[in-house]
Amino acid sequence: MEVIQVLGGRPVTGEVLVEGAKNSALKLMAATIAAPGVTTLKNVPDISDVHVMGKVLKRLGAKIEVVNKHELRIDTTDVDKWETPYELVAQMRASTAVLGPLISRFGKAVVAMPGGCNIGERKIDMHILGLEALGVEFKVDHGNIHASTPNGLHGETVTLAFASVGATENLIMASVRARGVTVIDNAAREPEIVDLANMLNEMGADIRGAGTPVVEIHGVGELHPVTHTVVGDRIEAGTFIATGALCGAPITVRGFDPLHLGLVLRKYAQMGISIERGEREVTVWRDRPLVPTDIQTLPFPGFPTDMQAQTMTLLSLAKGSCIITENVFENRFMLASELRRMGADITIEGHHAIVHGVDGLSGAQVKSPDLRGGAALVMAGLVADGYTTIGDIHHIRRGYEDFVEKLQALGADVRYNTVEVEEAPLGWDL
Ligand code: UD1
Repeated sequence: MEVIQVLGGRPVTGEVLVEGAKNSALKLMAATIAAPGVTTLKNVPDISDVHVMGKVLKRLGAKIEVVNKHELRIDTTDVDKWETPYELVAQMRASTAVLGPLISRFGKAVVAMPGGCNIGERKIDMHILGLEALGVEFKVDHGNIHASTPNGLHGETVTLAFASVGATENLIMASVRARGVTVIDNAAREPEIVDLANMLNEMGADIRGAGTPVVEIHGVGELHPVTHTVVGDRIEAGTFIATGALCGAPITVRGFDPLHLGLVLRKYAQMGISIERGEREVTVWRDRPLVPTDIQTLPFPGFPTDMQAQTMTLLSLAKGSCIITENVFENRFMLASELRRMGADITIEGHHAIVHGVDGLSGAQVKSPDLRGGAALVMAGLVADGYTTIGDIHHIRRGYEDFVEKLQALGADVRYNTVEVEEAPLGWDL
């Protein structure tokens, strides 16, 4: 089994450049379906989730050329299928982002129903209800969702029960060519949604208010392909900022907009972390103990759930106790039991984690519970006593390009390794 091995206690300092945002790149790739022709996406991260989305697009009939690792030329001229099979949706739930653009281009789509995932049930009922209001008819059979538009698509006001990122994006992508005006009320406001709306507007769409709770989409005729640069990854940036805060020596993180991490930086300042902001970079360091601070995750501009795990690692070493409340996903505290193996004192009560700071962590064998939890365990290893071995690292590869290499460049003692795993026998093997 491939693992990441970390020896704690090395100074970690220097500069790191973040890639384009995973959560934006995936939706921009899907959106190219709505504009037949060759769209060029720059600053695309080289991560496994992006590779899966590439497979989804190819399955639909698109051609993809990768130039210099980070530029994708996606030719959607000959897309002639509208089915996304379960094997791909099961690998990555964000594959469901093709629903909106397929409906926009073909008026129909077949997408496998996503199953549960390790951070909760993650339903898509809001996507369905919103699309139904625009005239989409759904039928579910044999595990697939079949969407059709017998009477075309028409604008409507849709109020989301929760500011869901995925539902907002699918509704925007489906409605760009609908008749009339679509209004999404209680829309999600994440920077990745603004990036998507910007690209669609460059393609000829008329989307107003992205980044606010009310998004208005005025239907247009055809969309045309464009060249677009993916917004910097605020979560990758936040992960390295949390690493600087944890290890103490200065780390400068470049390639993103610090305004996209507004609340994280404010909370981190309350935790006793020193922060210097530039226009496209942040430098962090820490020369005093971590101050316990309560955190509540919420949709943007609230504290991002995607920064909850990294912050839990930090708070597990604070001088005192605090509560982390997870309001976005129902099951996103699996990191806690792995951190406990390293000596952390964390108790889970429903959607609250009660964190009592400890004086130090000790290296142990642990498993990545999910993408952000995996990164948070590597971080914990950087300050733990001795060696930490992190398994299930495919989770980390989903969203971080060269995570180990970037930490090595900062001076960390971290490497890939393989370990023997004894398979449990079927039946007795005495
Ligand atoms: C996206 C991000 C993910 C991030 C999350 C919240 C991508 C690829 N992923 O996920 O990294 O953590 O936003 O910022 O962009 N829900 C429903 N019904 C729905 C839709 C959502 O009940 O139809 C629930 C989900 O189960 C979850 C919550 O709403 O509990 C938030 O989900 P949502 O904002 O849609 O997240 P994703 O788009 O899946």
